[in-house]
Amino acid sequence: MFHPTRRSFTTSSFLRSLKYENITVENRGKVALVTLNRPKQLNALCSPLFKELNDAMENIQADSKIGAIVLTGSQKAFAAGADIKEMSTQTFIDNYKSNFIADWTKITTVRKPIIAAVNGFALGGGCELAMMCDIIYAGEEAKFGQPEIKLGTIPGAGGTQRFTNHIFSNTENRNFVFLKRLTHAVGKSKAMEMVLTGSLISAQEALSSGLVAKVFPSDKLVEEAVKTAEIISSYSNPIVMMCKEAVNKAFELSLNEGLHLERRLFHATFATADRKEGMSAFVEKRKAKFEDK
Ligand code: CAA
Repeated sequence: MFHPTRRSFTTSSFLRSLKYENITVENRGKVALVTLNRPKQLNALCSPLFKELNDAMENIQADSKIGAIVLTGSQKAFAAGADIKEMSTQTFIDNYKSNFIADWTKITTVRKPIIAAVNGFALGGGCELAMMCDIIYAGEEAKFGQPEIKLGTIPGAGGTQRFTNHIFSNTENRNFVFLKRLTHAVGKSKAMEMVLTGSLISAQEALSSGLVAKVFPSDKLVEEAVKTAEIISSYSNPIVMMCKEAVNKAFELSLNEGLHLERRLFHATFATADRKEGMSAFVEKRKAKFEDK
């Protein structure tokens, strides 16, 4: 878990001072832009990269000036998967003892929204990393896939789980509700085809299957992702976090439990100054000024 109270910064200039080898972190106003930066290896995901990414996310979570995050790679690759060279000599006992890649999913505990802006290849762990984010935007040349089977292994960071639809029984009206687990929404048949053949899907296929929210020209992708992150950041940060929490719980709770949590969070917004400000601003026909309180 990230601990938002562990450090607290009053200025996001702190983010600019963060220096890493495998990623870069920049401010775009209230948006943190995190870029995977191993271009020669097509942003292959090695352990040092994840250490840095987790550290950066912890700092961003703690920075009160930042409202949302964009995670991107290069034009050629968001990330071409786990670093095969790093893994090639590892043994079962090494991986079991170190619980290899367990810390790769830490990004799912970040409470601020994360938009993955995917240009080029998002393969294996790269596709899984994109699916751990809250929204995926793709450049028109993006390619998504889980090609682990070609290496004699299987997806290890959620690829077999986050792609798959989950069916929940709606006990309130006896209909079946199909909840597409995330962004994870390509469905069993497509997920099986991708995982069992290692075949890749295009940005358009990813869009039509619900894996990505929008497709943009490659050179406009990051800009568009930042624009969306700016919109999110302009709202009350605690309310944004409640929205994210509520939507994510839909993948874990029964419908009744999820609806209960949503109602309680809705009630909780009435304890915030920002809810009062938002509704007063509407009534008074002016723009709301949120203070994250
Ligand atoms: N790990 C380590 N290095 C990688 C890499 C990876 N996943 N993907 C690419 N690279 C390296 C290549 O070895 C190459 O390095 P050198 O120049 O030193 O030889 C460099 O990046 C450029 O790659 P290519 O020459 O292969 O570029 P290409 O344009 O011809 O092909 C590609 C691009 C189709 C993405 C191809 O690189 C590829 O198939 N990569 C591997 C994809 C893959 O199998 N990913 C799954 C990894 S396993 C995993 O992720 C497990 C998990 O779930 C956690």
